[in-house]
Amino acid sequence: MASTLGIADLAMRVCAWQRRQGRRHLPWQNTRDPYRIWLSEIMLQQTQVGTVIPYYLRFLERFPDLQTLADADQEDVMPYWAGLGYYARARNLHRCAQVLVTDHGGRFPADSLAIAELPGIGRSTASAIAAFAYGERSPIMDGNVKRVFTRFFGVRGYPGLRAVEKRLWSLAEAALELAPVDLDMTAYTQGLMDLGAQLCTRGIPKCEACPLAGDCEAKRLGLQRELPEPRPRRSIPDRHCAMLILHGNNHVLLEKQPQTGVWGGLWSLPRFDSPQMLEQACISQGIVVPDSGRMATFVHTFTHFRLHIEPWLVETPQRVAEWLPEQTWTPFEQLTHIALPAPVRMLLEPLSEREA
Ligand code: ADE
Repeated sequence: MASTLGIADLAMRVCAWQRRQGRRHLPWQNTRDPYRIWLSEIMLQQTQVGTVIPYYLRFLERFPDLQTLADADQEDVMPYWAGLGYYARARNLHRCAQVLVTDHGGRFPADSLAIAELPGIGRSTASAIAAFAYGERSPIMDGNVKRVFTRFFGVRGYPGLRAVEKRLWSLAEAALELAPVDLDMTAYTQGLMDLGAQLCTRGIPKCEACPLAGDCEAKRLGLQRELPEPRPRRSIPDRHCAMLILHGNNHVLLEKQPQTGVWGGLWSLPRFDSPQMLEQACISQGIVVPDSGRMATFVHTFTHFRLHIEPWLVETPQRVAEWLPEQTWTPFEQLTHIALPAPVRMLLEPLSEREA
């Protein structure tokens, strides 16, 4: 266990390091606007900084404030998220904007406890927003910060377990309680994130540059590689599908996905449980599926399963009727403006270029 002296000093050391070595020019820094901060924190929940930046800037250009986002249709929002993954984040974001406008007079609540009641915002995200926007003194505990605290305090057990997580939150609270009253919460909160992302990384951390190394339990015991402990192994199931790329006359048949489910609210290609079912559906519309249409199978991994996708490329000279109400023939040149899952975009891009 790290010494009390180490804990008492932790926040100040993180702050001082952040000011010298941390990230200070990210597009969501140097603002106190909760809308901009909230958007960045949601985008950054499962996605790396480098990927988020262009999405963040594009999103803000189209939806510069809460009211604009709340007024938009979900259909207009999804294209600005397409490719970032975890689409429930975008649906919750949009719903949250509407709740804020309807129930909170278009403003964010004044503290993290109330912010955490909003759709799509958990305790850590709520604290980060309140720390950056209001300087509120409440701790965060995202994936990167879990790594920092796990190592510094030598915490055993997988941090996703409730008991381990509870302990980490208590330690984060203790570190804040022992910090000076005038602690700069922006620098501290950002500093923890930056430490986790830049020095206290997975694998081999850069302890030689770390302001906490002198009191770090994992460093003292040489356990940096072992902590945090990994998730107990769990195998995820494999699923298979055949995906139909039916195209002709510069159009492709797309299908709107139901709101619930992995690609909820996005547009995708018609999916079938087997190639036989795909063929049946085509025959019922008078379309022949040539053997040569079969493309290489590839795997897309979701959190809970692996999807083996067998794409079939079928050209039809005439656009047959859309045989499901959710289907629509879409011109290739419009695909850039439509919310498509990343693997579907990958499949369609070479075709778009060919047909252009
Ligand atoms: N990850 C989560 N929040 C972040 C932030 N504000 N800056 C960089 N990475 C982050």
